[in-house]
Amino acid sequence: MKFGYFDDLNREYVITRPDTPLPWMNYLGCQSYFGIISNTAGGYSFYRDARLRRLTRYRYNNVPLDLGGRYIYLRDDESMEFWSPSWQPTRHELKDYTCRHGMGYTVIGSSYSGIEAHTRYFVPLDENLEIWQVTVTNRRSTKATISGFASIEFCLWDAQDDATNFQRNFNTGQVEVEDGVIYHKTEYRERRNHFAYFATSEPGVGFDTQRESFLGRYRGWDKPATVEAGQLTNSIAHGWSPVGAHQVKLELEPGETRQVVFVLGYHENPVDEKFDPPGSQTINKKTVKPVIARYLDRKEADAAFERLRLHWDGLLGIFQVSTPDVHTNRMVNIWNAYQCMATFNMSRSASFYESGIGRGLGFRDSNQDLLGFVHMAPARARERILDLAATQLPTGGAYHQYQPLTKRGNNDIGSGFNDDPLWLIVGVAAYLKETGDWSILDEPVPYDNESGSEQPLYDHLQRSLQYTLDRLGPHGLPLIGRADWNDCLNLNCFSDTPGQSFQTTTNKDGKVAESVFIAALFVHAGRELAGIAKHRGLEAEASRYIGETEKNLAVIAEHGWDGEWFLRAYDDFGAKIGSKECEEGKIFIESNGFCVLAGIGLEDGKAAKAMESTRKHLATKHGIVVQQPAYSRYYLNLGEISSYPPGYKENAGIFCHVNPWVMIGETRLGHGDEAHDYYSRINPSAREQISDLHRCEPYVYAQMIAGKDAPTFGEAKNSWLTGTAAWNYYAIVQWILGIRTSLDGLEIAPVIPKSWPGFTATRVFRGVVYKISIERKGEGNQIALTVDGAPIEGSIVSPPVDGRKEVLVKGILS
Ligand code: BGC
Ligand code: NOJ
Repeated sequence: MKFGYFDDLNREYVITRPDTPLPWMNYLGCQSYFGIISNTAGGYSFYRDARLRRLTRYRYNNVPLDLGGRYIYLRDDESMEFWSPSWQPTRHELKDYTCRHGMGYTVIGSSYSGIEAHTRYFVPLDENLEIWQVTVTNRRSTKATISGFASIEFCLWDAQDDATNFQRNFNTGQVEVEDGVIYHKTEYRERRNHFAYFATSEPGVGFDTQRESFLGRYRGWDKPATVEAGQLTNSIAHGWSPVGAHQVKLELEPGETRQVVFVLGYHENPVDEKFDPPGSQTINKKTVKPVIARYLDRKEADAAFERLRLHWDGLLGIFQVSTPDVHTNRMVNIWNAYQCMATFNMSRSASFYESGIGRGLGFRDSNQDLLGFVHMAPARARERILDLAATQLPTGGAYHQYQPLTKRGNNDIGSGFNDDPLWLIVGVAAYLKETGDWSILDEPVPYDNESGSEQPLYDHLQRSLQYTLDRLGPHGLPLIGRADWNDCLNLNCFSDTPGQSFQTTTNKDGKVAESVFIAALFVHAGRELAGIAKHRGLEAEASRYIGETEKNLAVIAEHGWDGEWFLRAYDDFGAKIGSKECEEGKIFIESNGFCVLAGIGLEDGKAAKAMESTRKHLATKHGIVVQQPAYSRYYLNLGEISSYPPGYKENAGIFCHVNPWVMIGETRLGHGDEAHDYYSRINPSAREQISDLHRCEPYVYAQMIAGKDAPTFGEAKNSWLTGTAAWNYYAIVQWILGIRTSLDGLEIAPVIPKSWPGFTATRVFRGVVYKISIERKGEGNQIALTVDGAPIEGSIVSPPVDGRKEVLVKGILS
């Protein structure tokens, strides 16, 4: 069953009924002002940091679902009926409801009793504000008198404090209303130099800023007393809960259309120019007023929307493909790339499942996100890399997370996730392959943000590798620390007390438990760094890294192979995890996927065997599960992984983030059919038909789909912010379609299904447009390339030496 359809031409997903199984979200903003918005206008906005600078309030995990948003009410002033054109919060019956989620915007529309209304929500480029364009048309044969209300609830900035510290917060709320604009200025009187505002293009006939006045006592957003009565009360909030509500009057002749623009924004003043007049407590509005005036102008708003559209044309135009599979095309050309931008911007901070107060930006997460993002905005990727590296510790270790606003490592969670530093190498390698910008390696970057400790970025990469070498365990495998990629495999935390953190309550000395996964990652990262060193002419260093990866390979062969698959780890007692000897958790996806991705075991048959075992034991029709058999009880020595009921999350759920490792592994074995089959099993578009089972958005990946041990097998959770976005994009584009960046140029080495006659693609790479067409003449993966008609050796197309800006690449597969 479906709840909408893809409109590929307009790059939109169109939702045709409001009661989707879960709120289906979109993101607004892509630079510093952001919002999440659901198909019924739920969600919230923030400036840079979803915890520390939250503009509007959202009620997570509330009932009814998805409450708090950018709500419009329309009231027929003759019949006195009122409704919300986005369905929520009134949930009044509607006709022709549609929600179009597009690239950085959402349009929600419907009609009721002959009054049609559409609201377009978006954030203009380079501005810290959002625009709501509400277009109302009278389809009746008679004149209509309509009151329009627009409302939001302000959050008192720090979302964590806002949700807990009521004894203080009920006293601090402050607003100003000037020229019909509502300014939210809680704490502006003291240490804040920022405020929010909410404005309307129509002369208002009323406003409210005190929640109780707007809603009425003991009332909800579904039935505000003022909307019911048809008149706002011009209330001024003193403490309690400031809101922003505007009322406008629309007299509409039959067939007449009017548009009202609302602008919600964030503004900062210089600390010594906060007040006007100086010495007063009144906000200095000199610099904000022109901004407000500009975007309340409909023409300016339309122009800003057009700029946003062109911006996305440019971003998505960097890679476009046409294959025989509509789901591949749609995800690669539109939605997966778009999701990669969201994960880059948000890391794992703000979604329907991430409250915006829980975590900052993850070190490993943000590095991996680069794999799917770097081609779209290399300059931003560069900045992110330098920010991440600046939180690295002198030992080469990394804070697991950092706060985007302060760019400092997060002390609460600290360091000691032993895979973290290696991902920096993976991220930087992706950046170098994309851009060829070698200067980044010479950028001075501090350790732990300590000024004076700056070393070239290259030094950080060296320390990342050294960090693993300094922490080898009894078998010579890397020690796992608090956890490796699998945050929930906690082998040094024997936690028997409810509420303890599985990751940070470390009560083992960490000198025994080892990770085969980190060993594989080390091999991969070691080779990447060796390649980088070689490119810089550092031959001796390159061979040293290769030597280290070879030692690791030998250890994996001796202590990391279980006979039919790669082991996962050794626990604190030195016992195997992910082995046929285990009672449960005999085989894991991570070590098998990543070993083969890294090319381990390709020569001696281990890789083929590992993929075969993965298919046999872990693959299901909804994707590949983390491990089998699922843990049926809590294991003190394994930690959080066994805290989940079987089939969920890391306990044998289908973790969509790691499925691509197996897809890439299959391509390394030349198995295009298997790789694309795995790709399709979790491709959200290919799952659209089973939306009632899948439940999450059909246009973006979710972190997890319940595994076969779960009663809800096939149900997705935690959509949007997941490494799944980047890894699937990377797997399909770079390994299955095989259009792969390398230090030397663009490699073309497709491993596609046998049934595909070929495909065409356009790739803008280092300033050159590559028009690629691949034709299949045989069933294999042997490629013969011509560039502008001339045959070339091998699979790497070097950048044109004669300054050509467009080249035609033809590939024949046999
Ligand atoms: C999640 C991780 C998270 C961890 C923290 C896991 O279930 O997948 O994202 O870091 O829990 O406890
Ligand atoms: C989600 C986390 O963000 C990521 O860092 C981790 O690797 C996976 N969960 C698996 O635990």
